[in-house]
Amino acid sequence: MPRADVLRTTQVLRYTEKMKVLGIESSCDETGVALVQMAHGDSKPTLLAQALHSQVSMHEAYGGVVPELASRDHIQRLVPLVREVMALASKSLADIDVVAYTRGPGLAGALLVGSGAACGLALALGKPSMGIHHLEGHLLSPFLAPVTPTFPFVALLVSGGHTQLMHAQSVGQYHMLGETVDDAAGEAFDKSAKLLGLGYPGGPALALLATKGNPTAFKLPRPLLHSGSLDFSFAGLKTAVMTQWRRVEARATEQDRADMAASTQAAIVDVLVAKSCAALRQTGLKQLVVAGGVGANALLRAQLDTRCASMRATVVVPPLALCSDNGAMIAVAAAMRLVAGVEAPVFDDAFDVRPRWVLSAVQAGV
Ligand code: KG4
Ligand code: ZN
Repeated sequence: MPRADVLRTTQVLRYTEKMKVLGIESSCDETGVALVQMAHGDSKPTLLAQALHSQVSMHEAYGGVVPELASRDHIQRLVPLVREVMALASKSLADIDVVAYTRGPGLAGALLVGSGAACGLALALGKPSMGIHHLEGHLLSPFLAPVTPTFPFVALLVSGGHTQLMHAQSVGQYHMLGETVDDAAGEAFDKSAKLLGLGYPGGPALALLATKGNPTAFKLPRPLLHSGSLDFSFAGLKTAVMTQWRRVEARATEQDRADMAASTQAAIVDVLVAKSCAALRQTGLKQLVVAGGVGANALLRAQLDTRCASMRATVVVPPLALCSDNGAMIAVAAAMRLVAGVEAPVFDDAFDVRPRWVLSAVQAGV
């Protein structure tokens, strides 16, 4: 029998004490590493240390992520970041119980760097490894917030590639309530920002410019707002922004740009807020978890707080620094899956990545 198969089938860890999980995230343009601790009986994990390298300045010149450059940079950053995290936590590599990494979805080459490094490290340490779904990481990252959610809850996952409303029943049990039929919310921010000459990534820049603008200056559509379903669509909004901007661009002032930024942000946020509230009403749940890069948007956070408060529902968001991609969310997801008993860590020197992977396929025990 090949060695990997022997390892996979014969050794399964049982944890009785606090375990330390190293998390490695490399699915796109951030290299994230973190060390998290959790024991059976704990309701939430503890973040011991984390370090992050953002590739934004490297990709900026190209107006978007260049996959090959992303992979090469992950290779250079990972080992120093692991060392930094261990030093920050005052731990040695031998203290690590499990090495978790992002298995997917994401850029294939970038994922391979993280999974290769994680599985290599685990093998060298004689410890198990665990491949984690990137969106499960986002979804469980609010468990690092000062006030944590309790299952069941509705989760709004809003990133550069995904816009989904999930019914999270327990760790590993996630049911899709609605998702985008075309562009993601982050994509709508990024593409509109590009049109306004705001560079990459556009979301934070557009949000900043929007603070100086009038959100009603341009009449933009709120796609699928009254569709009755919990699905989203942002492609039409992007086209409307483009058409209206082209009409005024030649004689546009700085104020016009700010007005368009504010109007675009308002349209995206209106839809996200309305659908999130509808999801709470439909499920009868009273907690909304918001995660993913767009979750850092101040207007979205403020409007969700107000609207949910009027429904006597609470909103739980991860700390701002953990909204975008990071290693902590991967370590948290792994630790919570292990503690909840939905997955046992296996020793495995074979690794795979899943560039396309739907979250609802990550059921408990699968
Ligand atoms: O979760 P994330 O870091 O990476 C993916 O998994 O995609 O999300 C990145 C997305 C980008 O589209 C970025 O423009 C958007 O999150 N974003 C924002 C803000 N901060 C990040 N969008 C709107 N407002 C922000 N403050
Ligand atoms: Zn993400």
